[in-house]
Amino acid sequence: MMSCWTRFSLLVYVFSLVAWAYQDGPYTYRPLPPLREQARIQDGWLKERLSRIPSLLKKHEVDFWLMSQREHAEDTIWWSIKNATDYDAHRRTVLLFHTNESSLRGHPNPLKWVDNTGQVWNELVQVLEDFEPRYFHIAINIDEDIAFGGGLHVGELHAMMPSLGPWAHRIKNIPMLGIEYVSTKVDGQLEYYRQMQDIVWMMMKEGFSHTIIHPGVTTTEDLGWFFREKMLLLNVTTWNHPRISVLTEESFPGWSGTEDVIQQGDLLHIDWGITAMGLNTDTQHMAYVLRDGETEAPESLKQGLAKANRMQDIHLETMRAGMTGNEVLEKCLAQMQIEDIEGQIYSHPIGDWGHDAGAVIGFTNMPTHVPVLGELTILPNTYYSIELYAYHFVPERNETIRFRIEENVYWDREVGRWTFVKGRQENFYLVGNPKETLLKVQKEEYL
Ligand SMILES: *[C@@H]1O[C@H](CO)[C@@H](O)[C@H](O)[C@H]1NC(C)=O
Ligand SMILES: *[C@@H]1O[C@H](CO)[C@@H](O)[C@H](O)[C@H]1NC(C)=O
Ligand SMILES: *[C@@H]1O[C@H](CO)[C@@H](O)[C@H](O)[C@H]1NC(C)=O
Ligand SMILES: *[C@@H]1O[C@H](CO)[C@@H](O)[C@H](O)[C@H]1NC(C)=O
Repeated sequence: MMSCWTRFSLLVYVFSLVAWAYQDGPYTYRPLPPLREQARIQDGWLKERLSRIPSLLKKHEVDFWLMSQREHAEDTIWWSIKNATDYDAHRRTVLLFHTNESSLRGHPNPLKWVDNTGQVWNELVQVLEDFEPRYFHIAINIDEDIAFGGGLHVGELHAMMPSLGPWAHRIKNIPMLGIEYVSTKVDGQLEYYRQMQDIVWMMMKEGFSHTIIHPGVTTTEDLGWFFREKMLLLNVTTWNHPRISVLTEESFPGWSGTEDVIQQGDLLHIDWGITAMGLNTDTQHMAYVLRDGETEAPESLKQGLAKANRMQDIHLETMRAGMTGNEVLEKCLAQMQIEDIEGQIYSHPIGDWGHDAGAVIGFTNMPTHVPVLGELTILPNTYYSIELYAYHFVPERNETIRFRIEENVYWDREVGRWTFVKGRQENFYLVGNPKETLLKVQKEEYL
């Protein structure tokens, strides 16, 4: 016979085991370095990136790359060439990158003027006159379609033109210059990008748990704001508001979540990213809210996720540097057809921006072919966000649902292909119902 005390201890033990298992945690976050250290690291990356510009100019056969901007009207490229303690450009800031090969030998690269007197233009004229050109071409950011090649404000163009002299007729629009500079990563970034992914995944683990979600009470917007507040505590920011949706047949990828009270049996979806150290993440994962007595998600939902995972495989097996975005898209869609998978792909580069420079692979509103951005060539040494959905019929609901997932990948030089930075979602987060499960376990133990 067990003594009363032993029985009580056993009960406490079982209780604590159950409680522990449902804690879904502890949620341990590994913090990024202190800000000052972050700045030091980022400026190291910047130096490496800037040092590539002269050879990039030669590759595109221009002697100069000229940018001009005023405070609050910066060129898009400014945000990728400024150091970590710089914010907006001051006054009128003119930057002249050069090939460092003739009369400018030994000068800083870029040459930089901060001016509000007009003196910059006299000096610029002088520099251009003294230069012994090799190509006699100057790149300026005037592209009509691509943000990373079109950041020169029209007022700046008018202001600079009279100072360009004979170079005014030697202007070249080379969007690939900005695209390649912005999108090409340096090796040191990966370690921190991975750490950012760890933070994102841990936050989702915490957010999609019974500690935060009370079915029948918590709304999708509550959860979105939980993530916003949590980011403040973790010293990271974001580039878009976390969009939480309850997935139904109608849910289509968009620019907002749904406005729902979260209920048992819901399939939840999040689309969001964090910003830190000049890098951005973009992730979509799904969670299932357990019904009373359930311990896992229904099989039909698991199959939907598996189908989307298969699409990720196809995507990464297909995607190669040198192909255009549209070529990758076409090949993926063909392979999906062979495997009888229906769905859509809309992947994009990621890094300095959540939507970074370079070739896109589909758009939600352009499922089979994307003009301009889809015609660009995919560059090696870049990060991508693999974003897609698979249609899957869920008999319990009599609904075909889009299983939407998104993960960030990096260029793995060793194997010459893109690889998940952290991994991918293959199992739903389960929003538990501790009370019900606790009762169930108790009953089984003590019947
Ligand atoms: C956030 O920054 C503050 C101030 O530096 C620091 O005390 C805190 O530990 C940081 N939190 C995390 C999770 O890194
Ligand atoms: C960052 O830029 C500012 C202004 O351009 C400059 O004063 C400062 O020395 C730079 N810092 C580093 C670390 O390069
Ligand atoms: C380029 O300019 C830097 C100074 O910014 C100088 O140290 C370097 O020697 C120059 N390189 C060549 C090849 O001219
Ligand atoms: C399932 O949905 C279809 C169309 O949405 C409808 O025609 C059909 O009656 C539904 N079946 C059941 C069993 O509810």
